[in-house]
Amino acid sequence: MRPGGLDRRAFVAASLALAGCGPVARGQSPQALPPLKSVAPFPVGTAVQAAQLDDPAFAALVVRQVSQLTPEWELKMEYVAQPDGGYRFDAPDKIAAFASAHGQRLFGHTLVWYAQKPDVFVALEGPAFRQAFAAYIAAVVGRYRGRAVGWDVVNEAVAEDGAGWRTSLWSERLGDFEHMRLAFELAHQADPDATLFLNDYNLETNPLKRATFMALAERLLKSGAPLGGLGTQTHVAADIKPGAIKAALEDLASLGLKVRVSEMDVSLARAPELPSPSVDLLGQQGRAYAEAAYVFAKLPAARRADFTFWGLKDSQSWLRRENGADAPLLFDDDGAPKPAASAWEDAVRA
Ligand code: XIL
Repeated sequence: MRPGGLDRRAFVAASLALAGCGPVARGQSPQALPPLKSVAPFPVGTAVQAAQLDDPAFAALVVRQVSQLTPEWELKMEYVAQPDGGYRFDAPDKIAAFASAHGQRLFGHTLVWYAQKPDVFVALEGPAFRQAFAAYIAAVVGRYRGRAVGWDVVNEAVAEDGAGWRTSLWSERLGDFEHMRLAFELAHQADPDATLFLNDYNLETNPLKRATFMALAERLLKSGAPLGGLGTQTHVAADIKPGAIKAALEDLASLGLKVRVSEMDVSLARAPELPSPSVDLLGQQGRAYAEAAYVFAKLPAARRADFTFWGLKDSQSWLRRENGADAPLLFDDDGAPKPAASAWEDAVRA
């Protein structure tokens, strides 16, 4: 079996693409590459920020390439929850309007995240806290009812090392498990048709974290929580061990819920140790994207929710804040497809 568990056809296709023999060698026009969404038998998405959509060239790239949009940060509490207890929706509304104007789906990210604890919630305790928590979820999910196809209801609940769950304002005020169960129940009440996800990262590189994540999912299901799917963020480095992405996706799919690749990017800068000094970074990046594409496309259709990239153009990647030279996405700073873009497409079709 080829590295990453790819069969020969997929491996050859991905390698050809990376050698510039695929439809797009490095730096060719976006038109030379068939749109990502046109080759995939599943929704293809990207994270966006409202202001990015004011750039006509980028808006055209988004419309051409993907069929689903996730607000990168403007549908999180840090943007929506206001100090006076009110809510701010101008930016997510703009993204939602863009999506519906272009026949694209909207995905809600995220409702409950340890990383965000607005002061307006910190100031509350007991019944008042629970009431504000419930009101927030009802207001946010309810606003996009019938437009958002799904939500990351709970994000990054598992501890960094995988041994148990994180503590947070939410767990302290409402209970370690109860805050999560309640969030799913409230989101379902606000939009019974949305698919509700548990989302986390490093599930490819930390088997203990993946096991704890899946055990949490099973406990939510046993509690009657309306959990509909599992999201693996897939923020990986180019030196990720071949086969790690495959193992994670197949393991997650074994639970019988929908699975989504929720935030994929493949960092070059975070890849200090490649398998061998001669291996080129872009080649490794393409192989990681190809492995995810190939395995996701081979999942049963009923298990595939969507495949979402955490951005399209390198210049817009959140990873650029960590390292200005990183180039983790499928399109370069000018929006031209990189070899990884055709590697991803060839692997989806393999
Ligand atoms: C990041 C965004 O990309 C940044 O713009 C923001 O400042 C911080 O959050 N996992 C997640 C995402 O679930 O919400 C994070 O997005 C990246 C890691």
